[in-house]
Formats: sequence, C-alpha cells, structure tokens
Amino acid sequence: MTDPLLSVNNLESHYGPVVALRGISLTVSTAEIVTILGSNGAGKTTLLRSVSGVLEPHKGDIRLKGNSIVRDRPEQIVRQGIAHVPQGREVFPLLSVLDNLLMGAYTRSDRKSVEHDLQLVYQYFPILAERAQQRAGTLSGGQQQMLAIGRGLMARPGIMLLDEPGLGLSPLLVTEIYRIIEKLNRDLQVSMLIVEQNATVALRVANRGYVMELGRIVYEGESDRLLRSDDIKEFFLGRGANDEKHAQKRWKRKKTWR
Ligand SMILES: Nc1ncnc2c1ncn2[C@@H]1O[C@H](COP(=O)(O)OP(=O)(O)OP(=O)(O)O)[C@@H](O)[C@H]1O
Ligand SMILES: [Mg+2]
Repeated sequence: MTDPLLSVNNLESHYGPVVALRGISLTVSTAEIVTILGSNGAGKTTLLRSVSGVLEPHKGDIRLKGNSIVRDRPEQIVRQGIAHVPQGREVFPLLSVLDNLLMGAYTRSDRKSVEHDLQLVYQYFPILAERAQQRAGTLSGGQQQMLAIGRGLMARPGIMLLDEPGLGLSPLLVTEIYRIIEKLNRDLQVSMLIVEQNATVALRVANRGYVMELGRIVYEGESDRLLRSDDIKEFFLGRGANDEKHAQKRWKRKKTWR
C-alpha cells in the first residue's frame, strides 16, 4: 500500500474537563474518499477541528505526507493543502458570493491561478457564478453548502474535510451535493474526509468508512462491507448508539473489515 496522505495517530482532544476524542487513529490515501459516521456528540466535528488546527489536541499526532502538522496554525495547515468545510457551512452572510470564494484563497498570492480556480469552481457550481454579487446570507441552504465547498476548493487543497455536507438539505439536494463531491474527487484527485450521520449516502460514495462512538472508533472497513453489515444497521437504528456501557463493549470488540 502507498503511504497515506493523511494519518491521524492516537489523537486525544478535550474541551476543558470534557474528553471529546479518546485516541483516534485513521488514514486517508491520495484521491481516496473516507467517511466518518457516528451519532450526535460522537466527536466527529472535534476530529475535523483538530485536523485543521482550529483546536489543539492534547495528545497524538497528525501527519500530512509524513510531516507532522499537529502543532501548526490553521493558516499553515490550509497552505499545506487541507481545506475544512465546517458543519453548518459558516459562510460570511454579509459578504457577496464572490468575496466568500476569494476568502477561501486568502493564503494564496498567485492571482492568475486564483482567477483560474474561481472559473473552475463556477464550472462545478454554475449557480455561484449566477449569484456572484449576491450576499451569501440570502442564498438557500443548498446554495450555501455549494458556496462552502467552493470556498474550500479555492485553497487548492489536496484533501477536503467536509463536516455533514448533507445536513438540513432535501434528499434530492443531498444526492446532488454528493454527486459533485464524487466528481471533484475523480476529476481533481482531491481526497475527501467526510463526516456524516446519514450512513447510506456517505458510504455509497466513500471507499472506506470509520464509525465513531463517544470519542473512539468502534468499526472500520471498506464501504460496501460496512453497508452490508448488520452491526452497522443496528448501530444506525440507534440502539444504545451513544450509551456509555454499549460504547465500551463495542470498542473492546472493535471490528475491522477489509
Ligand atoms: N466548545 C465545546 N465545549 C465543550 N464541550 C464541547 C464543545 N464542543 C463539543 N463539545 C463536546 O464534545 C463532544 C463531541 O462533540 P462534537 O461536536 O465533536 O460531536 P459530533 O460528532 O460532531 O456531533 P454532531 O453530529 O451533533 O455534530 C460532545 O460531548 C460535545 O458536547
Ligand atoms: Mg458535528
């Protein structure tokens, strides 16, 4: 196997006394789509925030192409090729669509290639070109999600961290967003680390998946195996999904499917 593009090793993150990540390890290869599934409060957002440098982990390591980035600042991490598309989009509502996109390129000084990438984003999301001068806060939820992904692309990332890109969108729009994510991955060879609660939709596009529960990984494996697994079906029916006793048990008999 080739060396992973991103590797997270035994990562622990806290919020004051609250332990949110209890030793997370995972890898993402070049041009791979990996999904992290888990119910509310499992620690998915905390994991992405720790990778993008928004939150400083207490323990463990994060490597990009073999180099540790665990103590780097968020802008240094963006510059090295990691773009974080946060949960709930977080576009700048009073700025225009165009200015939001340009904010995504704030670490870059190569104006010509920024202009080229802007046109590229417009190709994938034509609605953003139509609405370039409109305030971002007046876009629909789906359009704001497209803008958030487009803004991430403007950093020219090697890997995108997408936090629940389907959250709050209609099933039709979720399908559309995932179709574009797959296309971006295929055309531009951008790796994707996607956090989702909607297991089926994420596993359909992903190569591999991890399931998180109370700050730990309890299942991992290839997507088609996870999709067929009765354990995963049971998990997502919510039986004890975030109950400490069940979580401990599942973690102890953690399963790996290859
Ligand atoms: N700013 C914070 N201060 C204190 N505790 C926090 C903070 N943010 C998250 N937590 C706690 O850390 C744990 C993990 O939260 P996180 O947001 O990472 O979960 P999540 O898997 O993304 O959930 P969701 O699916 O609801 O977005 C939760 O117990 C949460 O209450
Ligand atoms: Mg979250």
